[in-house]
Amino acid sequence: MKILVAYYSLHGHTEQTAKMIAKFLRADLENIIDKKDRSHLTNWRLGAFDEDLRKATQIEESIKNAADYDLVVIGTPIWDGVVPAVKAYLAKNKFKNVAFFLTFNAAAEDGALVMSQLAQKAPVAVLEIQDLQVKKLEGKELIKKFCKEIKNKI
Ligand SMILES: Cc1cc2nc3c(=O)[nH]c(=O)nc-3n(C[C@H](O)[C@H](O)[C@H](O)COP(=O)(O)O)c2cc1C
Repeated sequence: MKILVAYYSLHGHTEQTAKMIAKFLRADLENIIDKKDRSHLTNWRLGAFDEDLRKATQIEESIKNAADYDLVVIGTPIWDGVVPAVKAYLAKNKFKNVAFFLTFNAAAEDGALVMSQLAQKAPVAVLEIQDLQVKKLEGKELIKKFCKEIKNKI
C-alpha cells in the first residue's frame, strides 16, 4: 500500500499535521508550493478579505506523482475556503483514492466538499482540526483516529 501525504502550509499547522499523519501511515510527503508569494498574509482576519485568495494560482511541479499512489492524503489550511495552491493540486492530478485534512482557526466550512468536487473522488476519511488542537494531545488523538479510519478502509 503506497500512501502520499500532500499538503500546503504557510504558518506550520498543516505541515505539523501532515508530518504526524505521514509518520502514522508510513507515507511519503509532498509539499505543495504556490508560485505566488503569500508571506504577507499574517493576519487571518484580514486575509479573509483578500480578493487575491479567490483567484486561481500556479504551483511548482510536484516531486512525487500522485497517480503512483494507492491513496493520497491532501491537507489544506482554510483561507475563507480551500487555499488556491491546494485547489490547483487537486485539479491537476489524478487520484486512485483520497482522504482530506483541513486546518483552520474558526471553521472548516464546506472545505471537504470543495476538495472532493475538485478531486472528483469521495474521500475515504476527513479530518478537520483547529489550530488550538494541533499542538495538543487532543490533536494527536484526532490524527491517530483519522489514520486508523484510513487503514480500515483501504
Ligand atoms: C490569509 C488567511 C486566511 C484565513 N482564513 C480563515 C478562515 O476563513 N477561517 C478560519 O477558520 N481560519 C482562517 N485562517 C486560519 C488558518 O486556516 C489556520 O491558521 C491554519 O491552521 C493555517 O495553516 P498553516 O499554519 O499550515 O499555514 C486564515 C489564515 C490566513 C493566513
